[in-house]
Amino acid sequence: KVYRIASIPGDGIGVDVTLEARKVLDRAASGFGLEWTEFDWSCERYLSTGSMMPDDGLAALSSFDGILLGAVGFPGVPDHISLWGLLIPVRRAFSQYVNLRPVRLLPGTSSVLAGRSAPELEMVIVRENSEGEYSTLGGRHGAGEPGEFVLQESVFTRVGVERIIRYAFELARTRAGRLCSATKSNGLIHSMPFWDEIFAAIAVEYPDVVAEQCHIDALAARMVQAPDRLDVIVASNLFGDILSDLAAAVTGGLGMAPSGNINPSGSHPSMFEAVHGSAPDIAGQGIANPVAQILAGAMLLSHLGETAAAASVEAAVEKVLSDGAVLTPDLGGTATTSELGSAIADCLT
Ligand code: NAI
Ligand code: MG
Repeated sequence: KVYRIASIPGDGIGVDVTLEARKVLDRAASGFGLEWTEFDWSCERYLSTGSMMPDDGLAALSSFDGILLGAVGFPGVPDHISLWGLLIPVRRAFSQYVNLRPVRLLPGTSSVLAGRSAPELEMVIVRENSEGEYSTLGGRHGAGEPGEFVLQESVFTRVGVERIIRYAFELARTRAGRLCSATKSNGLIHSMPFWDEIFAAIAVEYPDVVAEQCHIDALAARMVQAPDRLDVIVASNLFGDILSDLAAAVTGGLGMAPSGNINPSGSHPSMFEAVHGSAPDIAGQGIANPVAQILAGAMLLSHLGETAAAASVEAAVEKVLSDGAVLTPDLGGTATTSELGSAIADCLT
């Protein structure tokens, strides 16, 4: 079988790490093939044409088996233009309502948390990816007047909240049987009580899963102080976004954290990317850590059903990291992006 994959390298280090992920995935593909189609959608394209992607961009992507995205956003183009001009429309048009962000302390890397070793830290954040706080509703009122104000509204639908919470319970059932819901119903008095009510109602259907809820602020502290008691975490769009950078930071850094924008029904392609962005501060230097994007590629293989190939990519990453000879600067080494990518690819026969 040959899978058709769309690659959108995007901006900054997205371009470098996507190249390495393709290198590794092509090497891991055995018994099946990967046919890549590359799209140059990016801030550079925006600056020359006025749009991040063409008008028929979503239609062009819809027939692929999967999408690998680098990162979008670069100084010179406001972030709301780059994100709402490409990333968010794809997530929403393709019903990728689950943003799955597994984090794990990999061998050979050290956590900022003193004394923790690899097997102790593993969790997955299930972030709602289609609604919630990331909304276009609202606006600016009384510009320039003393009473000027803005309204930024959130949208939580019953269907949207139920499906993400149910997905998280199903996932928790296949793992350690623990699920923590991020809330803030003491401060956000409409949206979060609704979220909590639905969480409690669905929890009844999963008596085998230990369900708890935790205010987002306390959960952030707990993620640093006692992360080993967390496993699956379900969170709204904004809370999940913040928690996943935090979780990445406590398990080896942003350079190590992959994510999947998943359409569970398969009606449209799912999209895989690193949690990190385009990192303008190190772009063009060839020193970005490609591991997050390579692991995002492993998630893509796993989503396609090629679990053996996905496992071989993960094993290759672990081997190179524990050898410790080829590491990028963020991991304390001096290797380039492509040297680390090649070292991982070379572990695959
Ligand atoms: P960022 O994740 O790009 O960078 C944050 C920090 O982490 C920087 O110091 C960077 O050098 C470091 N870092 C990130 N990835 C790394 C890697 N692979 N290896 C080594 N170091 C790495 O976040 P920032 O600076 O907030 O955003 C930069 C741009 O990326 C913005 O335009 C933002 O909107 C965009 N962005 C895009 C995302 C996407 O396409 N999904 C996600 C997050 C940000
Ligand atoms: Mg983020």
